[in-house]
Amino acid sequence: MTTHTHKKSSFGSKLGFVLATAGSAVGLGNLWRFPYTAAKDGGGLFLVVYLVLVFTLGYTVMTSEMALGRRTYKSALNAYKEAHPKFGWVGKLAFIVPAIILTYYVVIGGWVLQYLVLFLTGAYGEAATDGYFTSFITSQWAPIFFMLVFLALTAVIIALGVEKGIEPASKALMPALIVLAIGIAIFSLTLSNTDADGTTRTGLDGLAIFLVPNLEGVTVSTFLRIVMDAVGQAFFSLSLAMGIMVTYSSYMRKEDNLSTNALQVISIDTLVAFLAGVMIIPAVFVFMGTDGLSAAGPSLMFISLPKVFAAMGPVVGTIVGVAFFALVLLAALTSCVSILEVVVAGGMETTNYTRKRVTLVCTLIAAVGAIVVCLGYNVFYFELALPNGSTAQILDLFDYVTNSVLMPIIALVSCILFGWVLKPNWVTDEAETGGAKFYLKGLFRVMIRYIAPILLAVLLIQSALGL
Ligand code: PHE
Repeated sequence: MTTHTHKKSSFGSKLGFVLATAGSAVGLGNLWRFPYTAAKDGGGLFLVVYLVLVFTLGYTVMTSEMALGRRTYKSALNAYKEAHPKFGWVGKLAFIVPAIILTYYVVIGGWVLQYLVLFLTGAYGEAATDGYFTSFITSQWAPIFFMLVFLALTAVIIALGVEKGIEPASKALMPALIVLAIGIAIFSLTLSNTDADGTTRTGLDGLAIFLVPNLEGVTVSTFLRIVMDAVGQAFFSLSLAMGIMVTYSSYMRKEDNLSTNALQVISIDTLVAFLAGVMIIPAVFVFMGTDGLSAAGPSLMFISLPKVFAAMGPVVGTIVGVAFFALVLLAALTSCVSILEVVVAGGMETTNYTRKRVTLVCTLIAAVGAIVVCLGYNVFYFELALPNGSTAQILDLFDYVTNSVLMPIIALVSCILFGWVLKPNWVTDEAETGGAKFYLKGLFRVMIRYIAPILLAVLLIQSALGL
């Protein structure tokens, strides 16, 4: 029996590929990580650095991963080996990383679902109380229940396959997501609130904090930290170095212009990150002031925002809260679909089982892993000090191992593979199939060989050790 008896799937249209890939890229990274990182790193200054980086470094690595997928016609697990026999281990890493991420991403997806249900049932007041989030995630059954629902939704889309599941789901969910994001962002700008002491803050004041570069106290070393924050954010947000672009691009049609596809995916991802900043920063600023912004950090989504929604009053707060958590749920779902697809595609290539069967097995294994992650907040609770200085439970530990250690390694080794071993032409030839134009080719060559590896080596040292 050969190992490849399945007919290889393919996206039916260019739009299907771009929306599915953008669906992967647009996720919690855009809606939750981007706004608080921007607020922490001087607003407009971070924004400018980030914009430059996604369209140079992000574009370079994304086109390389897309070329790898389309040229080898394989999912991440086997594509690296096919490109160069000595790099098979990178493919294994690019298979293990999404498998690990899956076990905690579905847990966070479950939290989002729970918050959506809370706002839908009008219990927003409860979500806004101090300690609600902690009591929810440490409770025994609720997080597991919502996680399982979220995982099941993901699994159904994957079991239906690329043409019948991923593509139609992305075509329906992504436009809804963008409309919601634009609507909430506009609403956020119209907000205003007067404190007991008579100070009034408006949404537009909050927008200024997000957009106007704050150069106060910026030194060379803080600037470097901002650059490295932006590099890390760009990789996470664009779903790079986790096998996703490689796997999805193995379904990209040969007649599509690869570099245009990459530019469109990056543009959509960046637009949604920008809109997330416009929704969240003014809203938090209006109701909680600058203190609210600086205190936000990772707890922004589940602790600060419910308070902001509650401050809008019962009717408006409920509507905006429902719209917001529905948006987050759509974004998390399309991202989660892409992680499970990397695992399932790898499984199908190596076992010869049908998609449905592989999906079932992977989903069951993921469910066990995700239950362990949930129990990390009660039964298996521990406080582990990470090398980067933070304290971790199981979820944070998995996040650290993937995002701060394995992904920078995959990214760095990929640059060496494409820049020095296979040479940049290996990528540009694939992108130029059928006479298609490869945009920014000169920039690509310099980036992939020199600048990207240096930035990624610094990122690896810095993020793994927290220097
Ligand atoms: N790009 C996604 C985001 O911004 C990150 C991601 C995608 C993480 C898929 C895991 C899986 O949230």
